[in-house]
Amino acid sequence: APLQHRNTLAVPAVAEHLARVQSVGELRAALQWWQLHGGEAPVMALGGGSNLVLAGNVGGLVLQIEIPGREVLREDEEHVWLKVGAGENWHDLVEYCVNCQYWGLENLALIPGSVGAAPIQNIGAYGVELCDVFSELTALEVSSGKQVMFGREACEFGYRDSVFKRALRDQFIITSVTFRLNKKPATKAAYPALKAYFAEHKVDRPTSQQVFEAVVAVRRSKLPDPGDIPNAGSFFKNPLVSLEQFNQLQRRYPDLVGYPAEANRVKLAAGWLIDRAGWRGYRHGPVGVHNHQALVIINPGCGTGDEVLALARSIQADVQKKYGVVLEIEPRVYGA
Ligand code: EPU
Repeated sequence: APLQHRNTLAVPAVAEHLARVQSVGELRAALQWWQLHGGEAPVMALGGGSNLVLAGNVGGLVLQIEIPGREVLREDEEHVWLKVGAGENWHDLVEYCVNCQYWGLENLALIPGSVGAAPIQNIGAYGVELCDVFSELTALEVSSGKQVMFGREACEFGYRDSVFKRALRDQFIITSVTFRLNKKPATKAAYPALKAYFAEHKVDRPTSQQVFEAVVAVRRSKLPDPGDIPNAGSFFKNPLVSLEQFNQLQRRYPDLVGYPAEANRVKLAAGWLIDRAGWRGYRHGPVGVHNHQALVIINPGCGTGDEVLALARSIQADVQKKYGVVLEIEPRVYGA
């Protein structure tokens, strides 16, 4: 089955088998079928395909998770617990919550992808991370078909990280996520790009609705819509360096951008490093670096995953040479 329209980098890879599943029962049945007929090759769960690089064709079974649903589980004075099917589109959920006045997701507007993929890398943007509004999730264990509930602690969330990228990688398929959302708006507008937006628009005390609108506007101005220009969002994580290394770099580059992080470390803006190294707007054959955000590798010519990764490696080597900083690739690479 072709995967080109199922990954936002538009890499023209194919899957040996593809099954679309619309319920937990269908998911379990597909896994059972695979265990009887497929054998050894692993199973790959696919959501919106917005955080992966297909470095080759995918052997075995790809499961396109299309499980729908939005259900209020319970509510109290302050909060509402909303259970959402893993196959729901992320931005549609954010819009739905803004319309219902369930607050907490508005800073995460316009992130491409599905609800089920969101906890895996603990999606985050403009001062909010998924873990801030997360209550629990349900997932199916691939080996047993058993349904398991994971609370916040069990997910071991970190910056662009969770247990599903580490110890439990490929062992569970997320089927639903429950969010704890606020009935009273708790606006978070301190992120520099949002502050700048509200200063420019002369808004003193933005409402949550305005934060939603600002995030949409800022993202549209900086980040390419994968429907227009194939991409997988930020291609590298923002690297953590010691305060000492940050100070050294800052002496050489006074306008270096970094944010304080835990344990006396500093999170550098990888986009700044790549930009100042001269890569923004670079093109090489089918691939390149976005004109407005150097952290985003684009694939307008629908090159292969290997062509995308070759560019990524050139950038990594150059940044390491110029700044002594190692950049880690953020999306998951399959078939390398
Ligand atoms: N910058 C440059 N040149 C560039 C890009 C950035 O100088 O080409 C500078 C900016 O001017 C700013 C700083 O770097 O001072 C940070 O840039 P930005 O606010 O755009 O955020 P980012 O750190 O590059 C992260 C996330 C994004 C998220 C934004 C907003 C990561 C890897 N990326 O990017 O997430 O939308 O913050 O919160 O943490 C994604 O994960 O796919 C993603 C898009």
